Amino acid sequence: MKKELRKAVIAGNWKMNKNPEEAKQLLSEIAPLVKDAGCEVIACVPYIDLYAALEATKGTNVKIGAENCYWEKSGAFTGEVSAKMLADIGVPYVIIGHSERRTYFGDTDATVQKRVRGALDEGLTVILCVGEYLEQRELGITAEIVSMQTKIALQGVSEEELKRLIIAYEPVWAIGTGKTATADQAQEVCKLIRDVVAGLYTKEAADALTIQYGGSMNAKNAQELLSKEDVDGGLIGGASLKAPDFAAIVEAATKG
Ligand code: 13P
Repeated sequence: MKKELRKAVIAGNWKMNKNPEEAKQLLSEIAPLVKDAGCEVIACVPYIDLYAALEATKGTNVKIGAENCYWEKSGAFTGEVSAKMLADIGVPYVIIGHSERRTYFGDTDATVQKRVRGALDEGLTVILCVGEYLEQRELGITAEIVSMQTKIALQGVSEEELKRLIIAYEPVWAIGTGKTATADQAQEVCKLIRDVVAGLYTKEAADALTIQYGGSMNAKNAQELLSKEDVDGGLIGGASLKAPDFAAIVEAATKG
């Protein structure tokens, strides 16, 4: 059993929600509820909230992340925010390759790989999202899709750098739909991702990797999902915007 060796990580993905005032308010509600957490607790917030969020969580165990970043350090890239800019203001985490970025904003496996590279170069810890669409699951190609996304994103990432990477398995059909993957489905794909990583690196590196599940995880279903051997945490959308719900998921992860 390697699960005990891995750090459970519960991360909120606030998506395009909350202004800085609201962010401060929500974080001030979350922080006391999770102060004794036995897992890592992260809130990934919109760029505009980062300063307020870093300020509001000073002296707490809640860490802050961004939801995307660009690989170039600076330059003529209107509308983008670089990994360096995030690092410069002290943001430790960044989500990369979320399916909403891939679906609505043209992120591809190739640009996801560049964003991962850029973020690791700046010392950030990456939450890399992978996952299949419903049609892909129905075609029976989930393993192929998820393996390909993982292999391309990890191109050029060293075993040492892998320690600053978390993979989030997010089946697209389960995101924001209330349709959670069953615990067995989540386990099956998280295990597959770990096997892919073992093939690329070593068994030790794969055993040490934190793999999250994301997609309609909530206070009710978290315990069962998180009890699975290869599910080490969660990337939480909707439920991360309600302090008691998010705290209940953190509590479930603390119990393991
Ligand atoms: P929901 O928890 O709202 O389904 O969102 C999951 C997600 O996309 C987290 O990144």
